[in-house]
Amino acid sequence: MRIDVLSIFPGMFAGPLDDSVVGRARSEGILDVRLHDLRAYASDRHRLTDDYPFGGGSGMVMKPEPFFAALAALAEQWASRPRIILLSPQGARLDQGGVVQLSRLEGMCLLCGRYEGVDERVREGLVDEELSIGDYVLTGGELAAMVLIDAVARLLPGTLGGPGSTVEESFNENLLEYPQYTRPRSFAGRPVPEVLLSGDHAAIRTWRRKQSLLRTARRRPDLLMRAELSREDRMLLKELLREGALAEAAGLVKWVLAGDQGAMVSL
Ligand code: ADE
Repeated sequence: MRIDVLSIFPGMFAGPLDDSVVGRARSEGILDVRLHDLRAYASDRHRLTDDYPFGGGSGMVMKPEPFFAALAALAEQWASRPRIILLSPQGARLDQGGVVQLSRLEGMCLLCGRYEGVDERVREGLVDEELSIGDYVLTGGELAAMVLIDAVARLLPGTLGGPGSTVEESFNENLLEYPQYTRPRSFAGRPVPEVLLSGDHAAIRTWRRKQSLLRTARRRPDLLMRAELSREDRMLLKELLREGALAEAAGLVKWVLAGDQGAMVSL
């Protein structure tokens, strides 16, 4: 996959994209990240990329011309036009489903805004999609672009050690992951749950599923409401209710189970 990035701070990308999984994907040719300095496309002699907002107000607005000039220059290089994405807190919130969709693209071009925003004509004339990485405001789109690249890179074929590692992970089914343990068997007086040492694969699978459901219900009830629950899942949730393990999430779980069956469950 090729990812072009337009930013006035391309130097910010050194580091996060050089090491670990993303660094390896790049050196193996799975991921081709091209950083472009937006300032190089500014037409005036001061290489200005921002200006005062018409109508007044605080802060600066990123000028449209450098974005248009940069994309016109890049269009010469592209065999086909990639998805053009603006990173901004006003965008649709990126989630794992969105990341999976993006990972199937051949390429994308990320536009990083700065200051108080980007001239609206950039959105109107260039942008296919506007994405936010969460409901908070960063100093610019650069860190958001790096987050997006990191999340996409690990899904590209050949990047991680086989499909297993990305299939069974948080959010794939709107469920959080179960707790994991490694050696030692007991640490600081806390033993590893007995079932994980039992070698009974069916029991381990059931325990893990139950823990996933428990975690999701307690920490992210919004996800549980969207999860597709199997018969076994519903049975495990009822068990958790009977065991009193769900605490303050009990009400929501009863509601989810009732919704599934069209009637309130009797416990
Ligand atoms: N730029 C500033 N804040 C952002 C956010 N939350 N997501 C994406 N881009 C941004």
